[in-house]
Amino acid sequence: MKKVLLCTFIFMGFIMSAQEKTIQEQVDYLLTQLTLEEKVSLCSGRDDWSSQPIERLDIPWIWMADGPHGLRRAPATNKAGYGDQHPATCFPTASALSATWDVDLIYQIGKALGEECQALGVNVLLGPGVNIKRSVLGGRNFEYFSEDPVLSGELGAAYINGVQDQGVGTSLKHYVANNVETMRMFMNSDVDKRTLHEIYLTPFEIAVKKAQPWTVMACYNRVRGEYGTQSPYLLTDILKKDWGFEGIVISDWFAVIDRVKALEAGMHIEMPRVSDVNDNILLQAAQSGELDETVLNNRVRDILTVVLKAKSLEKADVDQKVKEHHAFARKVAGEAITLLKNDHQVLPLSKKKYKKIAIIGEFAKSPRYQGNGSSEVKPTQLDKVWDILDQEYGKGINYTFAQGYSLKDDLDVSLIEEAVQVASDADIAIVMAGLPLSYESEGIDRKHIDMPISHNKLIEAIAQKQQNTVVVLTNGSAVAMPWANKVEGIVEAWLGGQAGAGAVADVLFGKVNPSGKLAETFPVKLQDTPASFNFPGEQGNVLYGERIFVGYRYYDEKQIEPLFPFGYGLSYTQFEYTDMKVSANEITDRDVLEVKVTVKNTGSVEGKEIVQLYVTDKECTLQRPKKELKKFAKVSLAPGESKELTFQLEKRDFSYYDAKRDRWIAESGEFVIAAAASSRDIRKSARIVLNSTQQIPLMVDEYTFVKELWDHEQTRALLKEYFPNWIKGWTPEGKSMDEANIPGFFLEHPIIKFPYITHNEITHQQVKELIERCKNMTYTPQVIKFKDVENVSF
Ligand code: BGC
Repeated sequence: MKKVLLCTFIFMGFIMSAQEKTIQEQVDYLLTQLTLEEKVSLCSGRDDWSSQPIERLDIPWIWMADGPHGLRRAPATNKAGYGDQHPATCFPTASALSATWDVDLIYQIGKALGEECQALGVNVLLGPGVNIKRSVLGGRNFEYFSEDPVLSGELGAAYINGVQDQGVGTSLKHYVANNVETMRMFMNSDVDKRTLHEIYLTPFEIAVKKAQPWTVMACYNRVRGEYGTQSPYLLTDILKKDWGFEGIVISDWFAVIDRVKALEAGMHIEMPRVSDVNDNILLQAAQSGELDETVLNNRVRDILTVVLKAKSLEKADVDQKVKEHHAFARKVAGEAITLLKNDHQVLPLSKKKYKKIAIIGEFAKSPRYQGNGSSEVKPTQLDKVWDILDQEYGKGINYTFAQGYSLKDDLDVSLIEEAVQVASDADIAIVMAGLPLSYESEGIDRKHIDMPISHNKLIEAIAQKQQNTVVVLTNGSAVAMPWANKVEGIVEAWLGGQAGAGAVADVLFGKVNPSGKLAETFPVKLQDTPASFNFPGEQGNVLYGERIFVGYRYYDEKQIEPLFPFGYGLSYTQFEYTDMKVSANEITDRDVLEVKVTVKNTGSVEGKEIVQLYVTDKECTLQRPKKELKKFAKVSLAPGESKELTFQLEKRDFSYYDAKRDRWIAESGEFVIAAAASSRDIRKSARIVLNSTQQIPLMVDEYTFVKELWDHEQTRALLKEYFPNWIKGWTPEGKSMDEANIPGFFLEHPIIKFPYITHNEITHQQVKELIERCKNMTYTPQVIKFKDVENVSF
């Protein structure tokens, strides 16, 4: 058996390399045949959704379509495809997918999406979106995974691998720092470099390194003053050189401002086709030599490689698989549902406990299941909670219904009164509420995090009369819940896609034990949120003032109690964590630390637990969050069953980004590793010491503080050599110069000020020489224990 497998692999490897070679050979040949005009034309789309073909040379075109949680394929590539798109399975949106925390499941979603693409002739799916949910108000939060970079990146990578393993490409979007919809075509994301790397680039980095998306979509916005479509730093230095991206960069739709700059910066295809004007600009630049033809050739080479690869992987006969996707969408929606409250075990429902169940809320009959904008899928079918309960869970139960509110988003008191009557006549009330479609849309940020008044008032009124009130929420992003303390149960069902209704019924009745956990913090109120002072920005600029303190990092730092914390979610069973072990108490940055923890299902039903591993740097030269998610795993356990989980932590998991030195640094010192059930529920922890072997440049210049030079041994020696008299002036009688009490006031001066503070006893020339001698000095990153300085008055 093993032998057969080995032979198959070798054979497949041979075919693959032969095929790759053929593509490369074809590309090389085509490059010799293409005219300048043709090369330029390949750098724009042909129309709304396709790339430019060159018939003369048999260069085919490829079809790109939205994404991300289902396929929005227009009837033809030159049609916008809103309303008349081809039906496709509408899966739960990204905010639901991320609540599963299940990389294997997300891979399966990707696989299903890839199959749908193959069935409808689409070669590149425009997704996933891994932008960080910086503000709860972000209009596209329903389309993004999380406030955490590692979770976003890992799920994005799994999605891409799932799609691409079907021979269909993806477009990782929207690169980068695209976190606001207001003025989205122009807004400048005013983000410091460290934050950009630690928070906003990291999910893209993980996805690129782990999954090599065929395309990356450059964002509309500006980042640190430069359009995402024309930033050499983002597109070439980071994406291509640092991360090794092998695919092509396409623009977000109509995102290109300067065609030539964009191409030079590293962008490949402008989408969609705008007009001849833009192509002519490029052509003239190439003809005049303003645009180097080698740059154009490199872009064309990459484009042809992707186009030919896509065409060579087209498949037929996937229609049957697509028919099975509705059932799969229900399973996924069930995995995403997050149980936020379940007092007195009000759930699960059963006919033994409740004979008469009131279903309240129009959403039970008119489901809200996806967001507004380019991601809108035309579903192949659409389930409704009311129908599913009747068809699948109806036996022996008397269901009653009241509309409760109208979808028009107005307050109709008579509907509330009627609903209260229906609810109080039943044994339990299930209230289906949340956000109407108009509340969550691409292109528009939310103004507040409240649900409609009609929904809030309805819940309050019912809870007053019915002890057993359970709220089932459908919304794509966090909402305030002023009634949270008054109801017995809260089920977050997200935007569950076309089969979400079945999943709600499955969870309510315990056929599926809820296992979702929040991938975003639910705040008590908008004013508690990290970006509340700086969102959506003003005059075209949005200041990322909270810096690295995004999501739970902020709530931890400010010690603010959220309504429900990041990583939180209940189950119908309980889990116990034991036996946390680390492979070493002391490591270097070159080692891999293994962390083990055992999880046991101590309840009476089967369930799944999401274990989160957070790392805390106890002491650091720079400010760091109290904890950061580095690893996670979802584990399924039968009642009484235990499983040991193993995680591996590496240098990057302990590092911060040093913007001055432009590199990741793992500093020596003590770290705490915590295994947690949520960001606010640490179950086990261990301490380790990291001894860094990194050598990083000291980077002394005229603005380096005297204090820095004094605290590093090597530079202190130079200070002593250059300025003995000045130091001796601060040294107590009979003590060595190392024990000098240089006043704090002087230590806080940049060395350029030495000549001034010493009345030219130390000259400019000496300062220059000193800087020169520090040029190549390096040190091991660690917290320098600053010598206590007396604040000697002078
Ligand atoms: C959106 C993208 C989308 C594209 C094509 C843009 O407005 O930002 O996410 O893929 O349109 O529909």
